[in-house]
Amino acid sequence: MDALLLAWFAANGRDLPWRHTKDPYAILVSEVMLQQTQVDRVIPRYLAWLERWPTAQALAAASPADVIRAWQGLGYNRRALNLHRAARHVAEHGWPDDLTALPGVGRYTADAVASFALGHSVLPVDTNVRRVQERTGHAFGPESGQALMDLGATICLSRIPRCGVCPLAEACPSRGRRYEPLRKQSRFEGSFRQRRAQTLRLVSSSARPVGELDAEAVAALERDGLVKLNEGVVALPV
Ligand code: ADE
Repeated sequence: MDALLLAWFAANGRDLPWRHTKDPYAILVSEVMLQQTQVDRVIPRYLAWLERWPTAQALAAASPADVIRAWQGLGYNRRALNLHRAARHVAEHGWPDDLTALPGVGRYTADAVASFALGHSVLPVDTNVRRVQERTGHAFGPESGQALMDLGATICLSRIPRCGVCPLAEACPSRGRRYEPLRKQSRFEGSFRQRRAQTLRLVSSSARPVGELDAEAVAALERDGLVKLNEGVVALPV
């Protein structure tokens, strides 16, 4: 199965900017952005980020406020702070042997950096990869990581897989199956997450008196270290 998949990937794989580098910092930036944001939205932000902060040292020297502002619109802003803390760790101590020691880096992200940047023989398993594994019942090798991600993102879709154009269909025990609609992510409109995002956006443009802001949202942002409350004024951390 790996050979079929890799032949398909050679002809149909997506040309993504983070596939042109083996720099662990660049790969980490891409993977943290991709954790909860779609590929098309990540591409321009990834390129701009690396232009502004091309190395872990450069990012480490930035202020948290600039990093939070630069993350604006990518969502889940705690990722920005974690990435910044990870860069500071790397700038000071170098890359740890265990990448999960870095803030915001879990099993998947650690394996993605180890595989795509460091050439380690490990298969990073995200939701797309896990879906293809489960449907095919095949134990793919570590060289198939990027190909599995593309197959899962473009062919082996969660609800209505495109088995008619899948390179693995002939050998796949799940060929032709349909799947229940997956749970939708809860609505962003009107959610607490939206209130937080809106409050952070206001504070990002300039510090504001807490009385002008959503107090619950401020409290949650403060707990996460995304804002500081000082003498009644809410500001980004410097
Ligand atoms: N999603 C998460 N990591 C990815 C990668 N390296 N390429 C494409 N999509 C991804």
